[in-house]
Amino acid sequence: MRSVLITGTSSGFGLHTAVEVARRGWHVFAMARRGWHVFATMRNLAKRAPLDAAVAAAGAAERLDVTQLDVTQAASVEAGVRAVLQRAGGHLDAVVHNAGVAVGGAFEDVPDAEARRVMETNFWGVLALTRALLPTFRAQRSGRIVIVSSNSAYAGEPANAIYVASKWAIEGWAESLAYEVTPFNIGVVLVEPGSYKTEIWGNSPRVLPENSAYRALMQHLEKAIDEKVLASARDPREVAQVIARALDARKPRFRYPVGPDAWIGHLVRGKLPSRVQRFAITRLLGLHRVRS
Ligand SMILES: NC(=O)c1ccc[n+]([C@@H]2O[C@H](COP(=O)([O-])OP(=O)(O)OC[C@H]3O[C@@H](n4cnc5c(N)ncnc54)[C@H](OP(=O)(O)O)[C@@H]3O)[C@@H](O)[C@H]2O)c1
Repeated sequence: MRSVLITGTSSGFGLHTAVEVARRGWHVFAMARRGWHVFATMRNLAKRAPLDAAVAAAGAAERLDVTQLDVTQAASVEAGVRAVLQRAGGHLDAVVHNAGVAVGGAFEDVPDAEARRVMETNFWGVLALTRALLPTFRAQRSGRIVIVSSNSAYAGEPANAIYVASKWAIEGWAESLAYEVTPFNIGVVLVEPGSYKTEIWGNSPRVLPENSAYRALMQHLEKAIDEKVLASARDPREVAQVIARALDARKPRFRYPVGPDAWIGHLVRGKLPSRVQRFAITRLLGLHRVRS
């Protein structure tokens, strides 16, 4: 049985991925391939009930352990990895870096503490957990590092600068890391979802101070994003299936865009002159009509 540690499994992609991966070993057609034992982690164990219920409903509760792990707290990362490795007999096949947060708002309005919270989670958190696991992966000369990035890593987005920066940063880091760890038979994979219906939209603060110079832009964008992005957001179980596939694949791809918006972004990425790209996004969101 293979083993995987997944972060941020209290909701969204993390919860669905934990269930999908644990469930896979039970599938009748999966007899020929080994199943997975899932080490689901979350920062607040008081939120574990939905995961417990979903994995029980899938008939896979025996293949899942839940451990506390806050990716922004060094002591929690160390204790979480120690506990998981102990339970897993010192061997771990893969990690899914899923935990992530966002903040909406014009860059100038977003408090520094909020910006740092996003980078601490989406960027530094991934690095900290990877550092803690690499000695194990190197020693066993195998391991797979799956990172939940985003189609926000493809192009700039208004009112989302910090989140976009966190995903660009993690992709640059992942591309570079791959050169260093490939000789140890450690794979690096990016999963890049488009818009999906998870808790992230409701959980992310939208910053708009009373006296903001960006009020007109932000009010317009709020409506445009609700109408054009959120309205077409898809079922997050699609992403869980792609992550499970990336874990199962004998030779995984480096990038897995998920959903039509991510695929379009992936296909045109780097191919359009910046001016054309900005014009298209400005028109799509109707930003040319905003007067500040
Ligand atoms: N939804 C989308 O449209 C979309 C698209 C592209 C990429 N993504 C990425 O997908 C990943 C999962 O997000 P989601 O959409 O599934 O949102 P979600 O439902 O809000 O899930 C985020 C998860 O991350 C956890 N988390 C936050 N900070 C953490 C920390 N410091 N340590 C450990 N866990 C932490 C949350 O735990 P709590 O419950 O304790 O807050 C929650 O379990 C993120 O990396 C996000 O950037 C999402």
